[in-house]
Amino acid sequence: MSIVILRNELPDSSKKWELACDRKNLSYTTIDLTSHNWFEQIRNAKPSLLLLKPSGLTAPYKELYDERIRVLVEECNLPCYPSVKSVLLYENKRFLSFWLKSNDIDHPETFVFYKKQEASHFANNNEDFPIVAKTNIGASGSGVTILKSKNDLELYIYNTFSGMGAMKRRGPNLKKGGLLKRGFKLLLNPKKLKSKIEVYEARAADIQKNFILLQEFIPHDYEWRVVRIGKSFFAHKKLIKDDKTSGSLEKSYENPPVELFEFVRNLTDTHDLDSVSIDLFYHNGIYLVNEIQCIFGQSDSFQMKVNETIGRYTFLKNNWVFEAGDFNTNESYDLRLSHALLKHSIEE
Ligand SMILES: Nc1ncnc2c1ncn2[C@@H]1O[C@H](COP(=O)(O)OP(=O)(O)O)[C@@H](O)[C@H]1O
Ligand SMILES: [Mg+2]
Repeated sequence: MSIVILRNELPDSSKKWELACDRKNLSYTTIDLTSHNWFEQIRNAKPSLLLLKPSGLTAPYKELYDERIRVLVEECNLPCYPSVKSVLLYENKRFLSFWLKSNDIDHPETFVFYKKQEASHFANNNEDFPIVAKTNIGASGSGVTILKSKNDLELYIYNTFSGMGAMKRRGPNLKKGGLLKRGFKLLLNPKKLKSKIEVYEARAADIQKNFILLQEFIPHDYEWRVVRIGKSFFAHKKLIKDDKTSGSLEKSYENPPVELFEFVRNLTDTHDLDSVSIDLFYHNGIYLVNEIQCIFGQSDSFQMKVNETIGRYTFLKNNWVFEAGDFNTNESYDLRLSHALLKHSIEE
């Protein structure tokens, strides 16, 4: 058996998969999928399983990772984890909105304009403010702007199509708190500081100037984050801070409603998405899907806590059963790897 980890353009992006393999005493090869001879390297390694870490920082690398994975899986029939579909949905809000609409999955109404004229026409006729503008890629709220008036919207449209690019945060996340402490910590670690600066530079250079994505504003105090990895389900609330829940890192751990898990179980079963996190708003009595991610950040060492006990839910014999335990070690990569091995019938 030969495991190949396909890292993206960021050198450290394979680390958590590598640690997961080390913990199970599995040997592996790491290949940079963004290198020029990626195909030859992978062919020589004769992989029986590809472990993926899709790019989610800039559009060019996102496109490259998607294309190469499609060739490896759809043309060369190599098994991969997580699935191609989940990689395509990852960090692509535009594609996600088409996918949700075509599958009749409730979500905030979304408008994508490639023509400035169409966007301006929309601005002239829209009466619902605020409205939300989002860049296609943009973790931790960096690409999300709440436009409060027609003037704001017109300026956003002008900036985007004039070549300046859609508005987004380029530097550190001020909402996360502890900025000074984080700054000092980084100064003491030059390697980490350098890679952070490279991330900010890459994000700043990646300008979105060809289209805009607008979305109906959904008032909310929190988003549910539900994670499904194989048969394990987790959920917690991400609480809002300065208009956004993403990136604030403020969580609330409580027992989620059964309907929430039912909603996610149905969606993920129907669409064959067995290793994803789904972010949802609860609005007017329905769940609206905001994001679907196969790889997601994890700021605490667990994803779920019920009555002060960390653990997971599973659906067993028609019942949701809570099981105490530490299932999210190594930012859930250990659980992902166990699921990947099980799914592809590879013995641990
Ligand atoms: N349609 C919306 N209405 C109101 N607030 C929104 C909407 N979409 C996103 N937000 C807020 O902005 C945050 C970031 O948006 P999101 O789409 O999750 O992007 P990302 O997490 O990739 O930055 C969300 O966590 C939410 O609090
Ligand atoms: Mg989000």
